Amino acid sequence: MKCLAPAVFAFVTSLLLATPPACAIELSIVSGDTGNGIKVLREILDRYEKKSGNKVDIVVIPPSTTDQFGQYRLWLAAGSSDIDVYQTDVIWAPQLASQLVDLTEATRDVVGAHFPSIIQSQTVNGRLVALPIFTDAPALYYREDLLDKYHAKVPTTWKELQDTAKLVLDKERAAGNRDLWGYVFQGNAYEGLTCNALEWVMSNGGGGIIEPDGRISIDNPKATAALDRVKGWIGTIAPPGVLAYQEEEARGVWQTGNAVFMRNWPYAYALGNSENSPIKGKFDVAPLPAGDGGHPVATLGGWNLAVSKYSKHPNAAIDLVKFIASPEMQKYRTLKTSNLPTIAALYDDPDIARQQPIVPRWKPIFLNAQPRPSATARIKYNEASSQFWTAVHNTISGNGTAADNLAELEARLTRLKGKGW
Ligand code: GLC
Repeated sequence: MKCLAPAVFAFVTSLLLATPPACAIELSIVSGDTGNGIKVLREILDRYEKKSGNKVDIVVIPPSTTDQFGQYRLWLAAGSSDIDVYQTDVIWAPQLASQLVDLTEATRDVVGAHFPSIIQSQTVNGRLVALPIFTDAPALYYREDLLDKYHAKVPTTWKELQDTAKLVLDKERAAGNRDLWGYVFQGNAYEGLTCNALEWVMSNGGGGIIEPDGRISIDNPKATAALDRVKGWIGTIAPPGVLAYQEEEARGVWQTGNAVFMRNWPYAYALGNSENSPIKGKFDVAPLPAGDGGHPVATLGGWNLAVSKYSKHPNAAIDLVKFIASPEMQKYRTLKTSNLPTIAALYDDPDIARQQPIVPRWKPIFLNAQPRPSATARIKYNEASSQFWTAVHNTISGNGTAADNLAELEARLTRLKGKGW
């Protein structure tokens, strides 16, 4: 059968509910998104299928970016054509670049609508290896009702957060609220802990682990003090289980109403305010607190779509990527998920401002967010980050002191760096 033009095909199928003709291309996209991300991706893909006549399957994998990276590496190392499109974390571009299609030419007509810094982060040796679909910068989620009840103000330093969490917790527990905790965050040993710990360390004046000039800076007293403080939270204001929490576990405790404060990404905003959420209308967001004499730091996150070099349908895959990253679909995603768009104009969109007010408020926060040292450590980033989160996890679990663990970490990173990053 001869292929019909996509629009004609969509029209004909909608009339006849016919099965796709043999020439319809079948694509697969892999994603391990949090919250309702997969559901919303499916809705976007349904629209794409209608428009293009192609079919797209989602290969769903666990939400841990660390696990995803490991799996992506396996598929790519095997030259697998099973996956056409990878949903990639902002930090992975340098490490995956050689196995991804260069999108520079094909996206020339659309890249100008995205924030240049995000496009830059996905450009490796002059090749654009992924097109952004949303950006990320964390928030301090707080229970407005509980702070009001105890006349407490929104903390602007970690010390204030600690004190306020304890105050509310003590009073609420005494009143019989047994399941409440003060602060939940991502304490599991994975990339999410690197994000949290970079914020603790850098906001305390302890540097950025590896500095933009390549220098390793982590073994210093301000970094040590930052981790010592966090260690004191475990089992006091934070549940012992926080040492195993990723984003969704933290949100689980928070959204059932069992935390005064939470560190999480903007996706938790829409979910917290969803119809059956026990905390709907009871919370707000603020920038993360600052350390002693420091300034607040938000780690820059975000997600992109990349086309595998081994895809049998690279052109259709590029078309799909452009569709998902388009202003219309980013707006759709943002309205449903409160993910931050990567298209500047959407920050002035009245529907977004009304339905997801966190989005325009978070524009300056993500524009000033701190990138992880992935552009510096490049192909060694995953190893460097894993050394970092291991040292942090050991410290906050009481396995060695902060001072010893950071001294050892600095030695390990120095060895890893070798003659250079
Ligand atoms: C979020 C961020 C991503 C980060 C991850 C860590 O998904 O967008 O950049 O690596 O959290 O858990």
